[in-house]
Amino acid sequence: MSARRISQSEYRKVAERMKKIQEEQKLIVRRMSKIKYKIAILSNKGGVGKSFVTVSLAGALAINGRRVGVLDADIHGPTIHKMLGLPTGLGMPARSDGTIFPVEVPPGIKLASMGLLLPEDETPIIWRGSLKTTALRELLAYTDWGELDYLLIDLPPGTGDEQLTIAQIIPNLTGFILVTIPSEVSKVIVKKAIAFANRLNKKIIGIIENMSYFRCPDGSIQYIFGKGAAEELAKEYGIRFLGRIPIDPKIREANDRGKLFFLEYPDSEASKAFLEAAKKVIEIVESGERGSNESEASG
Ligand SMILES: Nc1ncnc2c1ncn2[C@@H]1O[C@H](COP(=O)(O)OP(=O)(O)OP(=O)(O)O)[C@@H](O)[C@H]1O
Ligand SMILES: [Mg+2]
Repeated sequence: MSARRISQSEYRKVAERMKKIQEEQKLIVRRMSKIKYKIAILSNKGGVGKSFVTVSLAGALAINGRRVGVLDADIHGPTIHKMLGLPTGLGMPARSDGTIFPVEVPPGIKLASMGLLLPEDETPIIWRGSLKTTALRELLAYTDWGELDYLLIDLPPGTGDEQLTIAQIIPNLTGFILVTIPSEVSKVIVKKAIAFANRLNKKIIGIIENMSYFRCPDGSIQYIFGKGAAEELAKEYGIRFLGRIPIDPKIREANDRGKLFFLEYPDSEASKAFLEAAKKVIEIVESGERGSNESEASG
């Protein structure tokens, strides 16, 4: 096979692209230096409640006086804006120099999401890896969050482009919060997420078990997806167990209505469990507790 000489104009295009990436990376470093804690919500499995956990944790942090931002890094299926009651296509405020600003939602959550930028719900994003990486890098580079205590990043399921991009381009990522349901299948898949974090040498802040059980009207408990998987995983890997959130149809209903579940139903068992888990996250993160997968040397 004969090698083709690269033309002057092709060379110029590549050089310009490299320069743009370097400039964006510098901007990311500058913007991220104003944010104390950067946490990504991870699970290999879809539909286990990552976005519910992200949005609720953001709300819990905000009512505890923390300045919070959420980046919806689910390029194909952004849902956070809906869970916060914002319509698709709302847009994000922008300045003529290209800086964009997150949309602010009560009780004090700043949101940046492709969901706000897409014209409508049905618009599919049909992008391969490199385009998704570019979109995420640009969102991170051009969004001006200002000073924040926490940036939560909602990831799509899996350990692919978006997860790698976030882990690699955010400087000093504080760590991952893992979400699972108690089924054996989910447990096996979550092990991959643990291996992913370990491979990248990133801290696992803790694991939260969602959809743990259902309390029937007579008070009895049904373990619909199985029992205790997250706590077993936590023990096996020495990861902090953050708690178990029951299945509650009101969670789905509040999320669909764009309301924060624990503010709508503060007395429910699920709300109390969630707020306990959020308290643990704050304790672990703000005390600088070392993750089980962090060596003395890496911390
Ligand atoms: N504990 C719960 N009880 C009842 N419904 C729940 C619970 N947790 C989440 N849900 C609902 O389950 C659905 C999936 O949750 P969510 O979108 O947060 O999952 P996800 O892991 O982010 O999914 P994806 O992998 O598609 O991003 C949503 O309709 C949500 O409202
Ligand atoms: Mg989601």
